[in-house]
Amino acid sequence: MTIPPFERSGAVDPAPSEAEIARLCDQPVHSGRVNWGAMAVNCPRLDQYNLFADPEDPRSTPNGNGVPYVLNSKLFSDYATKYRVAFLPPGTRAVYRDGQDGNNLNGTIHFPNGTVLAKTFAFTDEGEGTEELVETRLLIKRTSSTGGAFWDGLTYIWDTDSNGQAVTRLAPEGGTRAVTWHYQDDVSGELLTGSTPAYAIPNANQCITCHSNDDQEAGSAPIGPKPRNMNRAYAPESSFMGTRGQGGFPQVNQLQYWVDQGLLTNAPDPVLDGKGVATNIERLPHWNLPGDSGATAGSNEDVEARLRAYLEVNCQHCHNDRGAASNTGYYLDHFREVDASYGICKKPTATGGGSCGRQHIVVPGNAGSSIVECR
Ligand code: HEC
Ligand code: HEC
Repeated sequence: MTIPPFERSGAVDPAPSEAEIARLCDQPVHSGRVNWGAMAVNCPRLDQYNLFADPEDPRSTPNGNGVPYVLNSKLFSDYATKYRVAFLPPGTRAVYRDGQDGNNLNGTIHFPNGTVLAKTFAFTDEGEGTEELVETRLLIKRTSSTGGAFWDGLTYIWDTDSNGQAVTRLAPEGGTRAVTWHYQDDVSGELLTGSTPAYAIPNANQCITCHSNDDQEAGSAPIGPKPRNMNRAYAPESSFMGTRGQGGFPQVNQLQYWVDQGLLTNAPDPVLDGKGVATNIERLPHWNLPGDSGATAGSNEDVEARLRAYLEVNCQHCHNDRGAASNTGYYLDHFREVDASYGICKKPTATGGGSCGRQHIVVPGNAGSSIVECR
């Protein structure tokens, strides 16, 4: 099969030949080591990067210095359970940057060139005792021939071959999958159950729609690993990981752990409360846990803080003044004043089908008249 240049190499310039891709992706690697040499190209299969102890299971122990992490408030994707892992090239560190100085309000911590962030989407059925792997997405921070760094996004779809063995394939065209789920939410404890005939796996061009964020870094830059969203103790999202978590990683404050492992520099010395939260570092609450903001559960202050966290992680990557929804003037950065730019009494820019026949994005005190409620 001839692979078009974009699919072969993402934005790598000059595009590698098929022979070069085969050489890098098929080169022998020691067990437990990441195939760093192959990160310059888009391998046809995920296992060729050797990111996980069991190359056919992205829930197994990450290889190299790979570290699983979780977020306080996460993106909703049709009830998928997610496994996020960061792999930093040997001998490198990420640099702590938070939103407090006003210069990095929407940005994440700063990752070194060569970093790989992996996110696996699975559907959990606690009743059946099964978890179906659907896709593993990678963001790779590559350098071009001219030395500039940019983030490439690729996704691998999971399937089962005729022997019942799990296999992946690079899927730049995306796809859909029928899925069902049945599990208790790890934060709220709510039982979530349902199905969809068409869970959407994005194509390679869609990554950048969300991940170009506010253009602080070129390409499909990361969104989730901000100090305020990582400031918590690690704990797996899936009940199938038991109490030990992916790879048995300790359930301690994630920022502290990264510092201790030599993966993060320039962080303030975390002052920890009894629950693994650093009280001297910014923090987004769990949006679906009343009282998690620190204010009285259900008070206006608590609801506002949790709603801001929800809107930041689910909408802000497009709804900011440089994102894909910049032309709407409707911006959901969590630090923003609650005024017209946050939708209050604001008429829609994009009228038409998306307004549900309503006149304003938010009508204070009246959800039923607010466009945002129907969107
Ligand atoms: C609809 C918007 C959207 C699209 C499309 C999208 N992502 Fe993301 N992605 C997010 C958000 C928001 C997060 C962070 C929140 C989370 O992980 O829950 C994220 C997180 C990630 C992460 C973990 C690191 C990080 O940035 O937080 C990876 C890896 C990733 N995405 C890869 C991809 C790839 C590859 C594609 C394209 C195939 C893609 N994403 C398409 C919104 C999107
Ligand atoms: C993948 C990018 C993307 C994400 C994520 C996204 N939006 Fe949007 N949104 C847009 C675009 C583009 C428009 C303008 C075109 C349209 O109306 O569809 C828009 C328009 C809107 C509008 C109408 C605004 C106006 O002035 O016309 C509302 C309300 C809205 N979005 C709410 C949300 C909410 C709430 C979320 C999160 C739950 C969200 N959006 C997430 C891209 C996005």
